[in-house]
Amino acid sequence: IENNQINSAGHLTIGGCDAVELANEFGTPVLVYDTAAIKTQIRHFQEVFTQNDVDYAVCYASKAFANTAMYQLVNQMDCHIDVVSEGEMKMAMHAGFPASRMTFHGNNKSAEELRLAVTSGIGVIALDNFHEIQLLSQILEETNQQVDVILRITPGISAHTHEYIQTGQVDSKFGFDLESGQAEEALQLVLKEERMNMLGVHAHIGSQIFELAGFEGEGEKLVDLAASWEKKYGYQTKVLNVGGGFGIRYTSDDRPLAPQDFVNTIIKTIKARTSELGIATPAIWIEPGRSIVGPAGYSLYTVGSRKDVPGIRSYLAVDGGMGDNIRPALYDAKYEAVLANNPAAEAVETVHVAGKFCESGDILIQEQALPATKPGDILAVLNTGAYGYSMASNYNLNPKPAIVFAENGKATLVTRRERIEDLEALDFNLDGSSN
Ligand code: LLP
Repeated sequence: IENNQINSAGHLTIGGCDAVELANEFGTPVLVYDTAAIKTQIRHFQEVFTQNDVDYAVCYASKAFANTAMYQLVNQMDCHIDVVSEGEMKMAMHAGFPASRMTFHGNNKSAEELRLAVTSGIGVIALDNFHEIQLLSQILEETNQQVDVILRITPGISAHTHEYIQTGQVDSKFGFDLESGQAEEALQLVLKEERMNMLGVHAHIGSQIFELAGFEGEGEKLVDLAASWEKKYGYQTKVLNVGGGFGIRYTSDDRPLAPQDFVNTIIKTIKARTSELGIATPAIWIEPGRSIVGPAGYSLYTVGSRKDVPGIRSYLAVDGGMGDNIRPALYDAKYEAVLANNPAAEAVETVHVAGKFCESGDILIQEQALPATKPGDILAVLNTGAYGYSMASNYNLNPKPAIVFAENGKATLVTRRERIEDLEALDFNLDGSSN
């Protein structure tokens, strides 16, 4: 945290709001976003494009975190969004986000989803596989519509990240394989489809990537592909969508580049390659999710019980855990926390921060240095804004937390805490009668 994030009461502040007061007012666990930080990161991305003088779109990958207010915020910032389901599409549209600035992704889009996209006037459909080309073709015929498409290709690049979140390597469930000629075959099919307007190519090499090399390789491969298609088919690529994946700092051991610096390198790589191969530089689109919302999110928990295992370690339990943040249990992801009611206090011990879920693996943080704590203290886990709430579950029938946007000292509840009644409302009695 920054030094200016401690107020005169000695408490952590988020978006100018006292974190302890937020915990009192909204209860815990609560996910608090510093909305100014979200906007600043979006602006940094936009600036790097304008500085390099290229056409662009910043498409927020809304799988990282989506609620109505977030869709409205990114709409205000003139972003595009990446949606991957009927749910994301519908919530975004309900929030007033124009379908024309959405790109629809997914490796198994249903006919219903494609129909909804097409009849809503979706901006772009990212074609992922041959089945989908056929399905979309039928639906366009049926609905008498036209649509812009991009071809998602697997560039054959393995970025160094967790195996579960790698996507660009050859053996991936996503996209058309490049080397074997699948991508070219897909292009031939799409060019024949009068109702599909071939906008360009897409690749996404993975998530939480720290090295530049993967992005440089990706940029070059995409340009090479565009150049070969231009030569062979006279087809001019209008958009190169390079996906997201820009790594963020979760702990003090992480030292990534700033997200916009990754993008700067990608832009320069693409410009250099296009000029080398003598083709026009297409518009460059990016799809960052984590880097826009991750660092802006803080999970506030109340400290409860404690177990000291003699001679081994201590477990300090909080009132949330793997239900609201599965990442430590699923990916061995690392986080850091501060004591929100006294972030400046000196650490006196190292503990495992445990969740409240019935699973031994529900440890939010291993070996967190902390000052002396007591039940009722507020713990803030940092950088939890991406893939926390969006991957939350109701394990143990724990309701999902509330979400608050904080800016300039003003806190706004943007998603209310789930209630047990919300879950009960889905159920029927044993005899099938209404509950
Ligand atoms: N574009 C596409 C096509 C994607 O599949 C993804 C992420 C993104 C953009 C955004 O990537 P980002 O900038 O957020 O890295 N649940 C995992 C991450 C899964 C990412 C899936 N695709 C996690 O918690 O680490």
